[in-house]
Amino acid sequence: MCGIVGYIGHREAYPLIINGLKRLEYRGYDSAGIALYDGSNIQLAKTKGKVVDLEEKADKEITKKGNLGIGHTRWATHGVPNDVNSHPHYSNSGELVIIHNGIIENYASIKQELISRGYVFHSDTDTEVLVNLIEEIKKKQDVKLGKAVQIALNEVVGAYAIAVFDQNKPNEIVVAKLGSPLAIGLGNDEFFIASDASPFIEYTNNAIYLEDEQMAVIRLGREIRIRKIKNDTRIKPFVHELKLNIEQIEKGGYDHFMLKEIYEQPSVIKDTYRGRLLADQGIIKIGGLEEYIPKFVNADRIIIVACGTSWHAGLVAEYTFEDWARIPVEVEYASEFRYRNPVITEKDVVIAISQSGETADTLAAIKLAKEKGAFVYGICNVVGSTISRETHSGTYTHAGPEIGVASTKAFTTQITVLTMIALKLAHVKGTISKSDYMMHLRELDAIPVYVEKALERNGEIKEIASVFKDSPNFLYLGRGYNFPVALEGALKLKEISYIHAEGYPAAEMKHGPIALIDEQMPVVVVAINSNHYEKVVSNIQEIKARKGKIIAVVTQGDTVVRELADFVMEVPKTPETLTPLVTTIPLQLLSYHIAVMLDKNVDQPRNLAKSVTVE
Ligand code: F6R
Repeated sequence: MCGIVGYIGHREAYPLIINGLKRLEYRGYDSAGIALYDGSNIQLAKTKGKVVDLEEKADKEITKKGNLGIGHTRWATHGVPNDVNSHPHYSNSGELVIIHNGIIENYASIKQELISRGYVFHSDTDTEVLVNLIEEIKKKQDVKLGKAVQIALNEVVGAYAIAVFDQNKPNEIVVAKLGSPLAIGLGNDEFFIASDASPFIEYTNNAIYLEDEQMAVIRLGREIRIRKIKNDTRIKPFVHELKLNIEQIEKGGYDHFMLKEIYEQPSVIKDTYRGRLLADQGIIKIGGLEEYIPKFVNADRIIIVACGTSWHAGLVAEYTFEDWARIPVEVEYASEFRYRNPVITEKDVVIAISQSGETADTLAAIKLAKEKGAFVYGICNVVGSTISRETHSGTYTHAGPEIGVASTKAFTTQITVLTMIALKLAHVKGTISKSDYMMHLRELDAIPVYVEKALERNGEIKEIASVFKDSPNFLYLGRGYNFPVALEGALKLKEISYIHAEGYPAAEMKHGPIALIDEQMPVVVVAINSNHYEKVVSNIQEIKARKGKIIAVVTQGDTVVRELADFVMEVPKTPETLTPLVTTIPLQLLSYHIAVMLDKNVDQPRNLAKSVTVE
């Protein structure tokens, strides 16, 4: 959570940092701030609110001049979002200034110690404690900024990506990372710092991703120096060539990133299986998987760990892995798994799913599984992310940057990867018939077309949204493969429209939630042609008998549910096992339109952040 940006070089830092912060607002957006060195002083502006609010404030308060600067967009951890708690934070002398993404867990004891030495604190943040600890060490031990940062970080417990500079040494920025991401863009005698590469993509294609427990002193006119924070070992940096382009991180004519990302699904699903799925030849070949197939095939069980939408993708995989590959699967919330004392053995394979590749709970679950000897496989979207590096092997989803905070294309591409893995394992194990295998390969290859068709119903879905936009509650029901879709549909609505919604397995309705149903209650039922079709029709009858309003996702050509439901959203026919890839689409669109009609901030819903790097 929180986005950080920094620059040192020959350009004006202000516009570059402001644009960079806008690109990172998906990481947090309750307050924003910037500090520039204007040649003689630090110019600092910060405010509660978004980057546009910061721009207004900066217009009035600072010169906006300078070739060195740092900026921050915040998702509050310590201290409410207000002007004072916003970053950057000064040290007591006013000489040092810092931005921080993460959390310092032992800040309270350090703060007490600093107070006893005469330090004064203006904010409630852990970050202000850190910058003063650095100042204290720098002064007491008479060391340079880089050394002071290193000593300070060896005293703190927690997670951080920080950038700090000293107004007496305005040719360098010191950065460090543990747990939160930090990329350094390398230009021509200029350096860019950011939580991901998007803020500097138009300036350079070369970037270094700091590893955990590394720090760098970035000084103009000199090559970058990276060291381990703990033992001071010098590290030879690995320079990545970035594949990102500017179009991928702009809205491209859509009103919102979320809508753009919903519409990108046909092409990104194709990108996910491109070169990996050769349907005509009956081949699935996934780079990071091939050499580890024996581990999967011989596993006692597969444990899937993830959070939120990624957890829902894991639930879908539970069905395919068990159905086709006959491997027992458990799907766990990473946050629960890591705090239990789970029984994990060397015969277990753990799959960690994460769009961002930075989710703290998923990362901690991976570390735990590795400690216990399990083989850990990652499914991530963000290339080079921490989770992709921490796992033994893995597969990227190749969905491209997902900027809307509510996950859409990440979900369907995660399911695409998981489906390919399940099919591959089943084929190797011989637990799927040749004809079933071939049919699924062909149908998976056709999914982008089916998704296109589902998207064509957008107009009808928008009308349904206008009917139900003021309903205070929604129920989402699905069975089998579409139970996770019901959960995901409900999550999407909650996140962006702030309407209370619950997802349930349809059959569970009569064990409690049915009490909620009256003529005011919209019930979204995934009622596609499947093994459970008749049973779902019975559930719909039960809702109708209680006067609930039924919005059904049906297979194209369905007549039975159409008769019973108040509204239907049609999707093309696919094998039941692949239906989540298409039934999800109308639910994404429904929540999107409701949120837009309610005038909510679709891309940046309140209280959320895209990358949850706190536990
Ligand atoms: C929902 C959403 C979140 C994330 C969750 C995990 O739309 O975006 O529930 O799915 O925070 O994030 P990743 O996949 O980045 O680990």
